[in-house]
Amino acid sequence: MRDLNTFIDALDKERELARIQEPVSPDLEICAVTDRVSKSPGGGPALMFERPAGFDIPVAINLFGSMKRICLALGVEKLDDLAGQIEELTSPKIPAGLFDAIKMLPAVTRLRDLMPKTVNSGPCQEVVRKDGTLDDLPILKCWPEDGGRYITFPLVFTKDPETGMRNIGTYRMQVFDGRSTGMHWQRHKGGAQHYRVAERLGKRLPVAVALGPDPALAYSATAPMPEGLDELMLAGFLRRERVELVKCVTIDLEVPANAQIVLEGYVEPHERRREGPFGDHTGFYSHPDDYPVFHLTCITQRRNPIYLTTIVGVPPMEDYYLGKASERIFLPLIRKTLPEIVDMHFPAAGIFHNLVIVSIDKRYPGHARKIMNAFWGLGQLMFSKTIIVVDRDVNVQDEAEVAWIVGTHIDPQRDIQFTRGPVDDLDDASDLPAYGSKMGIDATRKSASEGFTRPWPTRIRTTRDAAQRAEEIWERIRRGWKA
Ligand SMILES: Cc1cc2nc3c(=O)[nH]c(=O)nc-3n(C[C@H](O)[C@H](O)[C@H](O)COP(=O)(O)O)c2cc1C
Repeated sequence: MRDLNTFIDALDKERELARIQEPVSPDLEICAVTDRVSKSPGGGPALMFERPAGFDIPVAINLFGSMKRICLALGVEKLDDLAGQIEELTSPKIPAGLFDAIKMLPAVTRLRDLMPKTVNSGPCQEVVRKDGTLDDLPILKCWPEDGGRYITFPLVFTKDPETGMRNIGTYRMQVFDGRSTGMHWQRHKGGAQHYRVAERLGKRLPVAVALGPDPALAYSATAPMPEGLDELMLAGFLRRERVELVKCVTIDLEVPANAQIVLEGYVEPHERRREGPFGDHTGFYSHPDDYPVFHLTCITQRRNPIYLTTIVGVPPMEDYYLGKASERIFLPLIRKTLPEIVDMHFPAAGIFHNLVIVSIDKRYPGHARKIMNAFWGLGQLMFSKTIIVVDRDVNVQDEAEVAWIVGTHIDPQRDIQFTRGPVDDLDDASDLPAYGSKMGIDATRKSASEGFTRPWPTRIRTTRDAAQRAEEIWERIRRGWKA
């Protein structure tokens, strides 16, 4: 999709957007309404607050907050289609003939979309306000005990001062005053690494913040891309069109031409300020902590911008659907090194890392533990606090089935594995910040090769014929009930 406006038009057409005409305050009220809506079946509609009290810029929120809308945002009917496309792109086959080669052309064209291109002008610079202030934007105060107003869905652009490699991450920004905010990139994230290099060199780090780009790009900033891989490649692939960039006005960075609003600025080395508390993804308030400070040098924007934002809090929220997209997109990529993985699932209540369920094609003794150790060493999967590994015939997307299998398959003393390592900055249960323990549960079937010498019980299933007969009779019973 070309930009946020196109996405909003599509949501309107699909009757997926509720437009709220009455004034609603960005101070707690918009968040409370959005929270209520996200807790309705299926995630509720996307919301457009046309008249946030005190501001003339409309607020768009919960745009990605359902399976249907995350699919619409990423241009697919179901998220598994993305996995298929990525699988196709990353497993190129040698064409057997001309017909085969022609069939492969669309995949080749998609490679071209990976590369962003720089253009001379874009809607995000229709208005340039070097004296602009954050007080003009309808930035939300989300929860009563929040430390202030937070920009919750920014795309934070930085470049490694040494290599010039770009990073884009979504890191919340607490408004300190009209011209400065906190910069909440946690220590494990790409932005923090660029800042570490800048501090080592004693240099100021230019930072550009894009608000409200096209939906594929907005999603890509939340994706756990490996360090050094440009999020714009993922965005170009998902939107099937190269991302267009324009040069910033006051700093040496490029930003998406189609954004609604851009904040240009910098962070100074070694400057810290207390930020927080903040009602976070975990459903609890994160403690206040010291983070770098973003200084604004310029606001550029469309003539009639929309302020795209989101909220986090007690799950399920909009972020669950963004996480679900990452689960599906990264599954085929993880399978490149761990081909024995059949499926994986991050339940909403597990808030991404607290609970990861993986099914595997178990091939040898200790295989489940190999998968746990691999996850604990793989990108942001290192944060996985509890990993449950099950056999290939267990449907990991069915949480009740997984609970049943765990309960029946484990001998706790034998099958639970503890380890220590980095944990998510948001984990408030570990003794130390960002360092703690993790647990793996091996709920696969055990065999003599793993020291289990008793016979493994057989799962109860009827015969195929009896099952078919049952379906027919059940159908008649059901129709009878309805009549
Ligand atoms: C709505 C939302 C808000 C987020 N806020 C933060 C944040 O404040 N700090 C942070 O480090 N990560 C935050 N994240 C997670 C990062 O965006 C995510 O880990 C991403 O992969 C980081 O990109 P990077 O690996 O390029 O740093 C947030 C994610 C979402 C969906």
